[in-house]
Amino acid sequence: MNIVVLISGDGSNLQAIIDAVEDNTIPATITRVISNKASAFGLERAQRHHIPTTVLQKKHFANREKYDEALLACLKETQADLIVLAGFMHILSATCVQHFTGKIINIHPALLPKFRGLHTHQRALDAQENTHGSTVHLVTAELDAGQIIAQAAFPITDKDTADTLERKVKHIEHQLYPKVIALFATEQLHFDGRSLVYNHSPLPMQGLQWAFT
Ligand code: GRF
Repeated sequence: MNIVVLISGDGSNLQAIIDAVEDNTIPATITRVISNKASAFGLERAQRHHIPTTVLQKKHFANREKYDEALLACLKETQADLIVLAGFMHILSATCVQHFTGKIINIHPALLPKFRGLHTHQRALDAQENTHGSTVHLVTAELDAGQIIAQAAFPITDKDTADTLERKVKHIEHQLYPKVIALFATEQLHFDGRSLVYNHSPLPMQGLQWAFT
């Protein structure tokens, strides 16, 4: 399986995926890492592991349409089986999502369908939630609204702040995302053209619910 990872920042999820590929937990190859930020630390992580990188910055294109065209062309060229968004801060065009239907996944730092969009940790605190966590979902044209593949939750304590929640979420994401990608790579999970199939049965609507320590 040919995986392409899209990032914008630190790339700690990218690192977890690289590590899982290297120890063969994910039987796949990361053929390219694409960033929309030249300064993304994740690019260095990729280079350290000899993974080819591409930087595509919006400022180098006349407008959003041109940028989206270039990104789509770049993704087509990779012939990716699975496109993994790992902190990629750009909403993919509808054309792009359509072209790769069922092949793009994202990790979102909240228990979807709660808290789509940004500032999820503070919003979970403000809403006095008892639990928080992370969700891996299929990417569709609507932001953070595609089918839920898997979630991992943990309790929120009185002492939690947005910072501690971010740390806790990342800690579980580093286990959650590689585990989902491994399911795709081992064909236990696949998109049948309409929806996701998990071990020959339709994936439950609420996704797979996992617990990590
Ligand atoms: C993660 O928390 C992910 O859920 C969100 O962006 C963050 C990326 O972090 N989409 P990193 O760059 O992988 O460290």
